[in-house]
Amino acid sequence: MEFVTYEVEGQVGILTINRPKALNALNSAVLDELSAVLDAVDQDAIRCLIVTGAGEKAFVAGADIGEMSTLTKAEGEAFGKKGNDVFRRLETFPLPVIAAVNGFSLGGGCELSMSCDIRICSENAVFGQPEVGLGITPGFGGTQRLMRVVGTGKAKEMIYGARNIKADEAYRIGLVNSVYPLEELLPAAKKLASTIAKNAPIAVRNCKKAMNEGIDVDMDQAIVIEEKLFGDCFETLDQKEGMNAFLEKRKHEEFQNK
Ligand code: CAA
Repeated sequence: MEFVTYEVEGQVGILTINRPKALNALNSAVLDELSAVLDAVDQDAIRCLIVTGAGEKAFVAGADIGEMSTLTKAEGEAFGKKGNDVFRRLETFPLPVIAAVNGFSLGGGCELSMSCDIRICSENAVFGQPEVGLGITPGFGGTQRLMRVVGTGKAKEMIYGARNIKADEAYRIGLVNSVYPLEELLPAAKKLASTIAKNAPIAVRNCKKAMNEGIDVDMDQAIVIEEKLFGDCFETLDQKEGMNAFLEKRKHEEFQNK
């Protein structure tokens, strides 16, 4: 892999977009590698993923403007699909994913972070969808996910105005859950990931599926989605151990993902 590194620490997998000379901008090769790394994640052993960017300046400064500059309409649409397919895979990936946003998170970078379940960022982070200033719309999900995260009014203001926001505003509008000094960001992401990793993996994955699938349907359908995934947890070893430990007033053994 040239542009995406993957490291494992215990039960946590860390994906790093690694093209710092271009502020980790997403060209086709980066998107292909991101997809290949997702293929390689051992879903039995790993319980949470972290996505971050290499260097101290950028998470991802967007899709690669040089690569996009000469695209035809059809090629533009295909490039949008390529990014959307990878980001949708991440969004629906069975494991929870934390974006540790360590700097510029613009265009495709903001969109990458929004495909993750949880966003935390460093104090120097800058978020935005500057695409209309380049003569295009956001193309990797930004017109759809930003309004789902921060509401339509704020999303439209940011997107129509190509207005970037700093970490404190991102926190205030709910785009990120918390803000840390840069050097504390990755340790905080790892701590959060290991907290998640300690819980029953089947239950955590079913929670992700229930929330992801339930948000796009009406409440009557949504609660049926939950019922099925709730039911699916029963008879698992981890459900039995979790409940027996409570009833026997002891701490549960390590969950087995079974
Ligand atoms: N694509 C390609 N290269 C990029 C890039 C991008 N999105 N962002 C930064 N780079 C490159 C620069 O061209 C520069 O390369 P050279 O050293 O070879 O000239 C290098 O990264 C460093 O960037 P700057 O010199 O510009 O750094 P800066 O500190 O002065 O500015 C910045 C930082 C404000 C983030 C600025 O780089 C910038 O505005 N980048 C573009 C941000 C942007 O518009 N992103 C949206 C792209 S469109 C998109 O993402 C569409 C979509 O939804 C799919």
